Amino acid sequence: MNSATAVKTKNTAKDKRFKMLDATIKRYQYQQDALIEILHKAQELFGYLENDVLIYVAHNLKLPPSRVYGVATFYHLFSLAPSGVHTCVICTGTACYVKGAPTILANVEKSIHIHPGETTADNQISLLTARCLGACGIAPAVVFDGTVLGHQTAESVGERIKRWLQDGST
Ligand code: FES
Repeated sequence: MNSATAVKTKNTAKDKRFKMLDATIKRYQYQQDALIEILHKAQELFGYLENDVLIYVAHNLKLPPSRVYGVATFYHLFSLAPSGVHTCVICTGTACYVKGAPTILANVEKSIHIHPGETTADNQISLLTARCLGACGIAPAVVFDGTVLGHQTAESVGERIKRWLQDGST
């Protein structure tokens, strides 16, 4: 099993985002020229371009990972990693939006005083948004440190953030 297959096997069972990424890659007919568009979609899905995702894209487009890393680091619109210890990605896709994502997001912004794409001054939490995580059935969905949780509320997300901050201060 090569590394990209291993990445996919490890992730797809719990993460539909790889399926959605597959659909995009297919739509572009695995064209290497579509690398930027595909990375853009990947960032939309994952909030940032984590290592696994870059390797996965490289494998599917039959490109050397160095090329994919090169493109991802060259363009400022791509972010390779959130700089915070914890990452909170709030889905703002349609299903999540109508089920309360804006309230969840506003609450988080208010409680930790940052906006999507930013990290708290103490480097504890990075806040990101994504457009549809492929988990519309459990909307509103939020990804906490890589784990997708559904049926979130401003309170449940607020609790999690509070716990992270408490852990970070001990
Ligand atoms: S819109 Fe949020 S998971 Fe689909």
